[in-house]
Amino acid sequence: MKALCWEGIGKLKVRDVAEPRVRADGDIIVRVRASSVCGSDLHLINGFIPAMREGDILGHEFTGEVVEIGPGVRRLAVGDRVVVGSVVACGGCWYCRTEQYSLCDNSNPQPVFAEKLWGHSPAGILGYSHAAGGYSGSHAEYVRVPFGDVGAFKVPDGVPDDAVVFASDAMPTGWMAADFCGLTGGEVVAVWGAGGVGQMAARAAQLLGAERVIMVDRLPERLAVAADRLGVETVNYADTDVLEALREMTSGRGPDACIDAVGMESHDVGPVYAYDKAKQTARLQTDRPTSVRQAIMAARKGGTVSIVGVYAGLVDKFPLGAAMNKALVLRMGQMHAQRYIPMLLDRLAAGEIDPGYLATHPLPLAQGARGYEMFEKKEDGCLRTVLHPA
Ligand SMILES: NC(=O)c1ccc[n+]([C@@H]2O[C@H](COP(=O)([O-])OP(=O)(O)OC[C@H]3O[C@@H](n4cnc5c(N)ncnc54)[C@H](O)[C@@H]3O)[C@@H](O)[C@H]2O)c1
Ligand SMILES: [Zn+2]
Ligand SMILES: [Zn+2]
Repeated sequence: MKALCWEGIGKLKVRDVAEPRVRADGDIIVRVRASSVCGSDLHLINGFIPAMREGDILGHEFTGEVVEIGPGVRRLAVGDRVVVGSVVACGGCWYCRTEQYSLCDNSNPQPVFAEKLWGHSPAGILGYSHAAGGYSGSHAEYVRVPFGDVGAFKVPDGVPDDAVVFASDAMPTGWMAADFCGLTGGEVVAVWGAGGVGQMAARAAQLLGAERVIMVDRLPERLAVAADRLGVETVNYADTDVLEALREMTSGRGPDACIDAVGMESHDVGPVYAYDKAKQTARLQTDRPTSVRQAIMAARKGGTVSIVGVYAGLVDKFPLGAAMNKALVLRMGQMHAQRYIPMLLDRLAAGEIDPGYLATHPLPLAQGARGYEMFEKKEDGCLRTVLHPA
C-alpha cells in the first residue's frame, strides 16, 4: 500500500509499504478515507520530538472504514464507518477507568524512553514516534488500530469525512483545553494559536459558557476565519503588545482563563524570541515557550492557564513566580480522546460544532509532502491539509 513516510528532518515521501495485519485480539484494521495533518506532526517532522526512525508512517487524525477485526473485538464490525482517537488506550487500566486515557499504562510498548525523559510513560499515540509506542500512522491506505473497541467510534449518518476527521484529535483537544478552564458561565477566555486546535478550543469555551473569547495569533487570515466563523475577538501579536491589549480589553483584570494552543514551536517578534530560538537550536532548551509565558503573565489573579500546545522537555525563563504569586491554576496534558469523542460526535451531528471549515486543503495522499509544506508555511490560508488515499 501507499503511505506517507518520514525520511529524516524536514523530509517526507510517499512509499510502498506492507499492509498492516491484525496482531492482537483487540486490533482492527481501518481503510483510511481521510487523514488530517496536525500541528503536532510539525514537531516530529522538524526533529523536536526525538525517536523518529526513517520510514515511520505519520498521521494520527483520521476517519475510515473497518475492514478487519481481531477475535476479541465486540463493539465494531467490518463495514462500520469510524473515527479513531489519536491516543491509544487499553480501556482497562486505572488511568483508563478514570477516563485519563492519554495516561494509559498499557498502550506504550516501548516506555523506556519516556520514562527516562519524564519519569513515567504516558499512553502511546498513533503515528507519533518510537517514544509514543512506535505505531504506524494514518497517512496510508490502511492503519492498524490497537484496542479498537476503546479507540474507534461509529460516525453518525450524514457527517462528511472532512468534518468528522477532526473528532479524532483537534476537537477533543480543543474541548479538553476549555474543560480545563473550569468555566461556570460569563468568563473571558483568551486562546493563543488560531490553528485547528485553538479554533476548536474557542468553540468549546463558548459552548461551556464563556461570555467572550479572544484569539491571539499573527496570521491575519486565521484570525479573520475565527472572527467570522466563531464570532471571537482577535489580537494580532505581530503589531500589538498582547499583554497590554488583553489588559485593556478586560478593564485591567486579565482573562479568567488562558489557553495555550501553540506549543513548543511558538513564534514571536523581538529579542526574547531570538534568544529562545538560539537556545533551542543549540539544544540548551528543547522548547520555545513564548505563548505559555504570555498566558501566565496575562491571566487574572486566581485564573487558569490551560496548556494543550505540546511541549517535549525543558524551557527557560518560565515565569513560575507569576504563576505562584497570582495563585494560578495550571492544567495541561495530551488529550483524553476517548472521554470526549462520543459527546463531540453528538454535538457534531446536532450542528453545535462545525469543524469542516478547518479542511481548507483536501489533497490526494500522493501529494502528502506538498500538503505538509503548505500547512507548515501556512500558505494559501491553509488551516489543515486533509489527505485522501483513495
Ligand atoms: N494536547 C494534545 O493532545 C494535542 C493534540 C493536538 C495538537 N496539539 C498541539 O496543539 C498545538 C496547535 O496545533 P494546531 O494543529 O492548531 O497547529 P497549527 O500549526 O495549525 O497552529 C498553531 C498556531 O499558533 C500560532 N502561533 C505561533 N506562535 C504564537 C504565539 N507566540 N502566540 C500566538 N499564536 C502563535 C501560529 O501562527 C499558528 O496559527 C501544537 O503544539 C500541537 O502539537 C496538542
Ligand atoms: Zn494531533
Ligand atoms: Zn489503559
